Order: sequence, then C-alpha cells, then structure tokens
Amino acid sequence: MSRALSSGLIDKTLDWTVLPGYSKLGFRVRERFWHDGEAQALPAGWSVLVTGASAGIGAAACERFARLGASVHMLVRNREKGEDARARISERSGSDRLKVEVCDVSSLASVRDFSSRFVAEQGQLHALVNNAGVMSSTRIHTEEGFELSFATNVLGPFLLTNRLLPSLRRGAPSRVINVSSGGMYSQRLCAEDLQLERREYDPPAFYAHTKRCEVILTELWAERLRGSGISFHAMHPGWADTPGVRTSLPRFRKLMRPLLRDADQAADTIVWLATAVEPAERPGLFWHDRAARPTHRVPWTRESGADRERLWDECARLSGWSEDAGPVPATPSSDKESD
Ligand SMILES: NC(=O)c1ccc[n+]([C@@H]2O[C@H](COP(=O)([O-])OP(=O)(O)OC[C@H]3O[C@@H](n4cnc5c(N)ncnc54)[C@H](OP(=O)(O)O)[C@@H]3O)[C@@H](O)[C@H]2O)c1
Repeated sequence: MSRALSSGLIDKTLDWTVLPGYSKLGFRVRERFWHDGEAQALPAGWSVLVTGASAGIGAAACERFARLGASVHMLVRNREKGEDARARISERSGSDRLKVEVCDVSSLASVRDFSSRFVAEQGQLHALVNNAGVMSSTRIHTEEGFELSFATNVLGPFLLTNRLLPSLRRGAPSRVINVSSGGMYSQRLCAEDLQLERREYDPPAFYAHTKRCEVILTELWAERLRGSGISFHAMHPGWADTPGVRTSLPRFRKLMRPLLRDADQAADTIVWLATAVEPAERPGLFWHDRAARPTHRVPWTRESGADRERLWDECARLSGWSEDAGPVPATPSSDKESD
C-alpha cells in the first residue's frame, strides 16, 4: 500500500472514531504525514488579525504567526491581559511586530468602533482569524439583548468580518478562518430561532449550534465573495487544554486531560489555513488537522437552502449590516492624505 493511501486511511479512521482523532494522539499521528505545506517565512508586511488573542488557541496562533514573521494584530477584550500575552509572545518568538487591539466581539457597538478605526488606520489585512468563543454556563444576554454565545460566536464575527472586507480586499489574496468546533456535528441549524430562545438553556447544545452557524456562514461567504480574492475557511481544532475548557468543561477536562492537545497543536490548522497553498484553492470547506472534513455526520442535521439564506439575512438584520450601503470607507486615512 502506498504511503499516501495508508496515511489517508489512518486519517479517516481517526476522524470517524472521534476520540483518538480529536485528541493529541490524532495530531501526533497525522503530523508525521504532513509535508512542509505552510509558508516558511511570510512576505514582508504580511498581516493577520486574531480575535481572542489573550489566551488559549488564539494566543498560540499569534505566537506561530509571529515566528513566521507576520505583523500580528491581537484582538482582545481586556487590554491589560492582552498586553501580558503580547509581552510573553514577543519574548518567546523574538518578534516586535505584535500589536494589541481592544474590542469586545460580543458587542456590536464595540465591533463597529473597532472596525471603523482599523479600516481607516490600517492599509491591508491578509488574514482574519475569528477565534474568540464562549460557552456560557447560564443563559446570559448582552447589553444589546443578544444571547451571549450567539453574540460572541456568530453575530459579532459576522459584523466584524463584513466590516473588515475593505482591508481584506486591499490585502487580497487574503483569507478568513473561522474557528468552529467538532461539537457542531450534533446540531441542526434552527433558522427560525437562531438564539434558541424557545429552548431550555443547555450550554454544550447552544454552543454547538453557534458553531454550526459559523460553518454555514463560512460556506455562504465563500459563495458570495467568490472571485473577490478573499477566501473563507472553517476549521475545528480538536480538544485542547485551554482556559476556556478548564472553566466551561471541568469534568470533561478532568477525564480527558492526558489526551488533550496543547493550544499550540490546536492552532496548527489555523496557521496552515492562513498560509499554505492548498486551502486557498479550496475555499468554503471545513478543516481539521490539515484535511477537509464533512460538515454532516448524520442526515438529520442537514439544513435547507432557504434556512441558510435565512441565517445570513437574520445576521444582517440583527447586526445592522447592509451590503448595499457599504460598511466603512474603503480608503485608509493615510491614502486620503496622499490624494
Ligand atoms: N479548546 C478546545 O478544545 C476547543 C474545541 C473546539 C473549538 N474550540 C474553539 O476554539 C476557539 C478558542 O477556544 P479556546 O479553548 O482557546 O478558548 P479560551 O481559552 O476560552 O480563549 C478564548 C479567548 O477568546 C476571548 N474572548 C472571549 N469572549 C470574547 C469577547 N467577547 N471579545 C473578545 N475576546 C473574547 C477570551 O478573552 P479573555 O482572555 O478576556 O477571556 C480568550 O482570549 C473558540 O472559538 C472555541 O469555541 C476550542
């Protein structure tokens, strides 16, 4: 049997058996078959914005990007925590091209403020990683009235991404990577009740539903922006030992701890999607450990085309995003001054 065939069989077996595939065992087995598909060093001025950069997988992705020579915008909601992470990553990577950006992605007002500023001040953006995510233990509503996990994982990133399109267009070919979860396999899109207000609160199920929304939105962006020079990709990182898992899933963590990936292993596919050649040629897919994965495991989770469009329309309506109006001026202030 050829090496490619045997590695493919091993990879698929790991994926279908879930536990070994999502754990660090899966990562260790698969990494032995990877070639050097990612950029060894990025072009000068290559920039990436990572949300949820103060801890966990987001911070690990920032460190990997910094080691590759990227200019890294670390989006955090708490400046002090962000500066601590920046200093740590700068010391470990030897990079001084790390900048802390403050924005609460669960707040549409904060996303509007930040994105207006960013697009006006920054020339180009080559990659956006929507990584910030929460699984709230109780049903919480934001000040703007949205269920917290929906606001953080879906609505804020929807608005942020659309409002950053001018910077991503200037950076084209550019990429957007949406960090979802394997938990999304358990959920069908509930387009008529996106925030699941009619259901009893169930943290893992609500979280998984937002992660299903992220994957569908990725596919919709890929269709809508085909030919724009911006490619969209979704991924799941497997199971990693992060502050989020420690807080939200303490029993799972206790049981699984020896098998959990570290944040750096979980960040691998994010950085590969942002920098390698192959994913840019295959937009709109759902990836794990550098391979495209199915988006459904069972038929009952499949949504209709009408429900997919309803998801987009509802996100646009709730976030106040209008494609016709255009998000923010496409010209950075530095360009304007030189007019
Ligand atoms: N770890 C896993 O096993 C796993 C599995 C599947 C999917 N994921 C996904 O991977 C991503 C990262 O997970 P993680 O485990 O690294 O999580 P984590 O340890 O909880 O880190 C999440 C990061 O997001 C930030 N964040 C949360 N809410 C925010 C907001 N409203 N605005 C800005 N930043 C915010 C947090 O900031 P603070 O530091 O201020 O809290 C933190 O930096 C998430 O999307 C998660 O759903 C993780």
